Amino acid sequence: MDIMIINGPNLNMLGQRQPEIYGHETLGDIEAKCRAEAEALGLTIGWFQSNHEGELVTAIQEARETARAIAINAAAYTHTSIALYDALSMFEGPKVELHLSHVHARESFRHHSMISGVVTGVIAGFGSSSYKLAIHALSDILKS
Ligand code: DQA
Repeated sequence: MDIMIINGPNLNMLGQRQPEIYGHETLGDIEAKCRAEAEALGLTIGWFQSNHEGELVTAIQEARETARAIAINAAAYTHTSIALYDALSMFEGPKVELHLSHVHARESFRHHSMISGVVTGVIAGFGSSSYKLAIHALSDILKS
């Protein structure tokens, strides 16, 4: 596939989870939008969500064999996970870290990302459009 999209903890609760911050769309709604966006760009995507750090590590490792690029919303593990940093370091293709919310305008513990140093770029604060923007950014890189 072209882009593996990986989603971390509590994102399965979108729609019910603090809609004033994360919006009313469910993760399924966002997946459908991403699939439509990718198809329009002529790209194939994979989709994965887990609440477990190790499963996210495994998904990144597997993407080394199956995907050309990664878009990851690591959710709370963004701010804590050396394991995700290490796994992403091994992935050689382009990688986007994305967030629905504007993490730098929120609580100070969200200002630091463990993984920003090993990704190609970061997109945050555009709601579900952050996913769309990540797909477009990776599409441009993959096609260049
Ligand atoms: C998030 C931001 C994180 O700080 C938070 O822990 C999340 C979601 C976002 O998409 O805005 O779970 O990654």
